[in-house]
Amino acid sequence: MTLRRLLLAASGLMALTQPVLAADGPGAAQADRATAHPAQWPAAHSPAAITDPATEAQITALMARMTLAQKVGQMIQADISAITPADLQRYPLGSILAGGNSGPYGNERAGGADWARLVGEYRAASAKSGAGIPIIFGVDAVHGHSNLPGATIFPHNIGLGAMHDPALVQKIGAATAAEIAATGIEWTFAPTLAVPQDLRWGRSYEGYAADPALVAAYARAMVLGLQGPLRAGQAVDATHVAATAKHFLADGGTFEGKDQGDARITEAQLVATHAQGYPAAIDAGALTVMASFSSWNGVKNHGNRSLLTGVLKGRMGFGGFVVGDWNGHGQVEGCTVTACAASFNAGLDMAMAPDSWKGLFDSTLAQAQQGTIPAARIDDAVRRILRVKFKLGLMGPAPVARGDAAGLGAPAHLAIAREAVAKSLVLLKNNGGLLPLKPGARVLVAGPGADSMAMQAGGWTITWQGTDTTAADFPHGQTIGRALVDALGQVGGQATLAPDGQFAQKPDVAVVVYGESPYAEFQGDVANLAFRPRNGEDALIARLKAQGIPVVSVFLSGRPLFAGSLINASDAFVAAWLPGTQGAGVADVLVAGRDGKPARDFAGTLPFPWPADARSPVTKPLFPAGFGLTYAHPAPLGRVNEDPRVDLSAAASDNLWFNRGQAPSPWHLGLDNAVTSRSIDLTAQEDARQFTWAAPGALAIDGPPVDLTRQADEGFEVRLDWRIDALPAGPIKVSVGTGSLDVASLLRLAPQGAVTQTRIPLRCFAQAGADLKKVGTPLRITAPQGFVVTLRNARVEATGSVAACPTQG
Ligand code: BGC
Ligand code: BGC
Repeated sequence: MTLRRLLLAASGLMALTQPVLAADGPGAAQADRATAHPAQWPAAHSPAAITDPATEAQITALMARMTLAQKVGQMIQADISAITPADLQRYPLGSILAGGNSGPYGNERAGGADWARLVGEYRAASAKSGAGIPIIFGVDAVHGHSNLPGATIFPHNIGLGAMHDPALVQKIGAATAAEIAATGIEWTFAPTLAVPQDLRWGRSYEGYAADPALVAAYARAMVLGLQGPLRAGQAVDATHVAATAKHFLADGGTFEGKDQGDARITEAQLVATHAQGYPAAIDAGALTVMASFSSWNGVKNHGNRSLLTGVLKGRMGFGGFVVGDWNGHGQVEGCTVTACAASFNAGLDMAMAPDSWKGLFDSTLAQAQQGTIPAARIDDAVRRILRVKFKLGLMGPAPVARGDAAGLGAPAHLAIAREAVAKSLVLLKNNGGLLPLKPGARVLVAGPGADSMAMQAGGWTITWQGTDTTAADFPHGQTIGRALVDALGQVGGQATLAPDGQFAQKPDVAVVVYGESPYAEFQGDVANLAFRPRNGEDALIARLKAQGIPVVSVFLSGRPLFAGSLINASDAFVAAWLPGTQGAGVADVLVAGRDGKPARDFAGTLPFPWPADARSPVTKPLFPAGFGLTYAHPAPLGRVNEDPRVDLSAAASDNLWFNRGQAPSPWHLGLDNAVTSRSIDLTAQEDARQFTWAAPGALAIDGPPVDLTRQADEGFEVRLDWRIDALPAGPIKVSVGTGSLDVASLLRLAPQGAVTQTRIPLRCFAQAGADLKKVGTPLRITAPQGFVVTLRNARVEATGSVAACPTQG
């Protein structure tokens, strides 16, 4: 036994973290690979002002009065979708969160006053229960107060990375904090300090950059912006909130860019690449750190004592508390979401137990009573949580008053967002000086992203996945297309916004806005870096070019993607990331004033290398990190490679099974003899396929087996966009794998002959017997003779609200 193991065994931890600390065999080797040596890590320290002797004495006195149950309660956080204020009487929990899909009173679009009211109700209930300790309330305000309509939405972090401007990041933090605080909330789960390595990862856009030094500079700036500098003896004021440095550690370093995956790297790489943001955040006063879902060399971070305790609380001197991620403790070996002493013993102070809080409270209390979780560990966790509550001014007779519900979308905040959008744009190509758009020019603004608030805002907006954001959600925002049309109109131009690219009079130039559709977390994981044009943008650009119209591409994406043929087809190409709601920032750079000069030149440079093909990670980029043209320093771009150099069809695709009338690779459409099909214009030219059942039969979409269990757990639904043209009597079956559901009665309620959306939760198919672990035929539609349907899209998607299972007739 090594000395360390001896010490752990002596402290009673040996038995608890057995899989990690097993004395011999493969477990031991694994434990060594995933055991950090704190002395090799950068040192840091929470500022002394995080607390003071008087506060610590108050905490000591308070803890002396607390029962064990009350202490355990502090260590557990529940989601608003699964707990009521009244529940806090029996379960005196320490914290409440609102997850990405949780809105006040079940309303995803609740306004600031509703949020403040909701938070107030939990807070009042907590003050009356247990030891009377108010809850701390957390939310994912990750690019502005992004769950709220009307809030100021800033570019996602990848766009901020392109700015290379810590001072502006600090202003963004302060503006975001003011909007969060205005709704009565005192804690955001931001900033993400990931340093993404393999951009197939669906959360790449939540990371600032590939450069650890920039991430460190931004960590400091964002924490200072959100919290303000900590001041001795004073609470964080009413316009600031607690930050969360997340996800500790190496969320951006997982194998093949898999979300929640495993970082198979040495300790030296962990330190050099992934750890750099944390000392900066801690030194700046970050009050909380969130543990990562991911693993390091096979061991889940939520259970890694050497990282959470040895490195974070020891070497990095972190004095705040460590919160878990969404049921992340349940992934630790030997744990379930409702029981996980190992995670608390590893150093987790507060478990995020959105829907599992009740079971976790009961089991943790029992473990605390039995000493499975040592009393000293409980006391350390509770002290840290109370310290943060004191610092936020939540405690005592005169708490800091947040929640005046004013200031959401304040003009000063919108101006900061607009500036950030402008500075985040990266110019990759501008042949012939096509940009800026000249005053007086006739401009066509087209493409699927031209008037799409959802595409420009991305995930974590209104809902978790961000797929149903609309322009109406942000009355103080502008879509990029509308902003361009306005700006051009002001300088005497004649601009038309036509997403489908139709025009009456031939334009001098076309701006085509397109890119990725919104996603969050694992839903954004992809098999390779190829951008797949799915909304007709490639055909649109080809058509414009064939008519001799020069094309500016404005590319919306959460990561650099291989788009060789589109770059070649475009005369100018702008990487605009996920800029948020202030489209005017794009116009500030793209549109010249009457003097021929735009309000701003390009200032952004690539935060990550831009791939030359679809392979990942990128080793020989087309454009290196740091690349970006300006008007002042133009340079023509020759033809770029168009070969993806990976087999695109072999890659298991994401969850779009049928798109605009076709099955995108790797999916295949198969029809029984009984079913015939033809192309149809449903909402655009040939964007759908009509299927007619001449006899009982089926259509099916097949492909490589996919695992849909996680989507089912998270409330994802199968969504069919279609028109029911003829509905015969008898069952109409929709199947996912081996689970079949009769949707006939559901379809009878749908409007006939008009485009409609049918949504069926994935879990309903599991209940009907589907094994969602391995689904080779994600969609089969079986119907009797006479069924006629025009199908546009079939996909798996998550929106805020989950539909009921169709009643079986
Ligand atoms: C994400 C976190 C987020 C949390 C709460 C998790 O799934 O990984 O980044 O803060 O949910 O919504
Ligand atoms: C929640 C998110 C959370 C995710 C975890 C969703 O249902 O709304 O906040 O991050 O689950 O995977």
